[in-house]
Order: sequence, then C-alpha cells, then structure tokens
Amino acid sequence: NKVVLAYSGGLDTSVIVRWLQDTYDCEVVTFTADIGQGEEVEPAREKAKQLGVEEIYIEDLREEFVRDFVFPMFRANAVYEGEYLLGTSIARPLISKRLIEIANETGADAISHGATGKGNDQVRFELGAYALKPGVKVIAPWREWDLNSREKLMAYCDERNIPVEKKKGKSPYSMDANLLHISYEGINLEDPWTPAEDDMWRWSVSPEEAPDTPTTIDLTYEKGDIVAIDGQSMRPHEVLSHLNKVAGANGIGRIDIVENRYVGMKSRGCYETPGGTIMLKAHRAIESITLDREVAHLKDSIMPRYAEVVYNGYWWAPEREAMQALIDQTQTYVNGVVRLKLYKGNVEVIGRQSDDSLFDEKIATFEEDQGAYDQKDAEGFIKLNALRLRIAAGKGRGF
Ligand code: ARG
Ligand code: SIN
Repeated sequence: NKVVLAYSGGLDTSVIVRWLQDTYDCEVVTFTADIGQGEEVEPAREKAKQLGVEEIYIEDLREEFVRDFVFPMFRANAVYEGEYLLGTSIARPLISKRLIEIANETGADAISHGATGKGNDQVRFELGAYALKPGVKVIAPWREWDLNSREKLMAYCDERNIPVEKKKGKSPYSMDANLLHISYEGINLEDPWTPAEDDMWRWSVSPEEAPDTPTTIDLTYEKGDIVAIDGQSMRPHEVLSHLNKVAGANGIGRIDIVENRYVGMKSRGCYETPGGTIMLKAHRAIESITLDREVAHLKDSIMPRYAEVVYNGYWWAPEREAMQALIDQTQTYVNGVVRLKLYKGNVEVIGRQSDDSLFDEKIATFEEDQGAYDQKDAEGFIKLNALRLRIAAGKGRGF
C-alpha cells in the first residue's frame, strides 16, 4: 500500500513521512508545490530521498493557483466574516486535487497531510479528497499520534535519525503562506488583547514606515480578471506577485481578526494580503461601472455564502460550482481600467473607465439633462412606492 503526503519539507511533515512508513508499513509518495510561499521547494527532494522516499513530486503550481482558484474567487468579491480574504482556504482545494491526481498516477489508495485535528485545514483537505476520489483513505497523523509537543517530536527525530536543521530566522508562529497571503496564528496571538509584534510581518511595511509619496497604478480588467498592470500584460501569478510588492511597500493589507473556525472554536489570526486587498477594491470599482444594479446586488447577496463555502472547504462541491457559474456569467462585461492611489496602508480608487460602462454622464449630470430622464416621472415613481406606507399611516399605524 501507498500513501501520497502533502510534504512541505519542514520538520513536521518529515516526521510524518517516517511515522507513516513505521505505523502503516507503507510506501510514501511526497508532493511538494510552489504556490508562492516564498520558500525554495527543491530542497524537499533531498530531504525526501534521505527519508527513503522513491516517488517525489515537486511542482510549480503558481500560475494554476492564481488562474483557477484566486481569480475565480475574487470575481465573487469573497470575504469571510467581513474581513478575511481566504488566503489559506483557497489554496487547499488545489492541494487536494493534486494529491488525488498523484494518488491515481502512482496507484496509491491513501492521502495524508500535516494539518492538526483542531483546524479548518484538515476539513478542507479531506472534503476535497473525498469529493474527487470517494473511496480514498485519509491518514491525518496529528489526530492519531501522541507526538503532540515539540519535545516529543524532537525525541522522535532523535530516535529515528530524522535530520533536524535549525533554520535561521524561523518564525515561531504557525504560518501558512502562498501568493495570496501569509497567515500568523499561535504564541502571543492566542490572547486576542495582545497586539501583534511589528517584526512578525514579512511582506509589508507598517503604514507608519510607508513612503510619504503615493504610488499610482492602473489595473486592466478583462471579464473580471486583471490582465495588465500599467498597460503591461501579465500572467495571473505575475499580476498577484507584482501587486504584493507595490502594496506591501505601501503598508497595505494587514489585518488582525478573531474568526469562527468551521470546527466550532474562535481563533485569533493575523493576515497580510497586500495584493489581494488591492484586487478586492479594484474589482468592486470596475464592477461599479460595468454591472447592472440588480446583478451587482444579487452577486453581493450570495457573496457571504460563497465565502463561507470556500472557508469551510466546499470548493469541490455542487453549490460552489453553481454559484461560480452565476458569478462568472456576470463578468462578461467587467472590462476596463481602474486607477488606484496607494498610500500608507490605504487603497484609494481615483478613476475607472470602460468601453462597457453603463455610467451615462448625460443622464447622471446635475446640469440640464437631454431628455432621457424626465424629472416629472420621479413624482409618480415615489408616490406609487409610497402607496403602502400611506395606506398603513392612514390606518393609524404610526411610528
Ligand atoms: N485561520 C485561517 C484559515 O482557516 C488560516 C489557517 C492557517 N493554516 C495553517 N496551517 N497555518 O483559513
Ligand atoms: C491547523 O490546524 O493545521 C492550522 C489551523 C487551521 O487549519 O485552521
């Protein structure tokens, strides 16, 4: 028997390799992906080899991640609980997909991951896996073993000769990074009253330290996706990586929140999502001139549901697909350019234009209009809309 493991190359998942081999007497296939976490993935090959792994998958999934997961989600303007841009949530379905594809290629009947039994990630990995391969076996070591402290983990490494390298500058936080964000949880953040330390953040300067002169950028949209920055065409992952740099340099995209995990508990997390913060604002701006009002409101009304579905791990589920079809359909005319001013933690929209704009200056103007809108019509419009209010008031239903 064979199991495909989502392998980061770090200590925890290295221990998992050995633990799977020992506990299940199975062959372990490792899968390591570059999704823009900003760490080399190639070193994972040597480490896996040292652990006796024979089938080693190392892949650059940055483009697929942004094109097929991040961009579709941003078409929905998805935000969980009003704050969280779903940086970790959106990467999990891609990992699940590759785990299952690799299982099918290598003839493995099981998958495994390094997520704990207390979090959302286990749910997301496993819901995805079951949706894509109904008979798959899932092994979640953190829910099974008793290596639940650093000491026990280190002792295990000692016993089995698992190389432990002390990485310089390694953050003490529980972190997860990809092209969309970095998350920080644990340690001092577990007290929601304790502020995050300033040197915790990796991608952004604090707004106080951001430049005194603003940065202006133009984002070009086609069907709801950014295809160029300042007139220069870019592929999806290049767009996000470029935006991360300019936004990070201007102190944009930090949040500090308490969220509700799907498994029931509240948890405090800090997230930096520089490029994503720009994308959300800019996408709303281009939609503001290109979408019909009722379509825009309909989208907005399903957005919290869509965000919850992604957060809870139901990317590979029919309700997500159905909502996505609706959302994608609305993006046909979401084309044009948004101009933004980035300044000390703020993203300000300063202009928007589109050949598909529904904005009509001749109708909106406060100057003399050309006859498309007759102000006299407004009288009847208001009176009829007031009808039920007048009837109720006439019956003495006052306030
Ligand atoms: N709380 C966030 C979420 O549920 C971030 C999770 C981070 N995951 C991790 N393995 N560090 O999406
Ligand atoms: C984990 O438990 O692995 C990280 C936190 C989470 O998944 O929510």
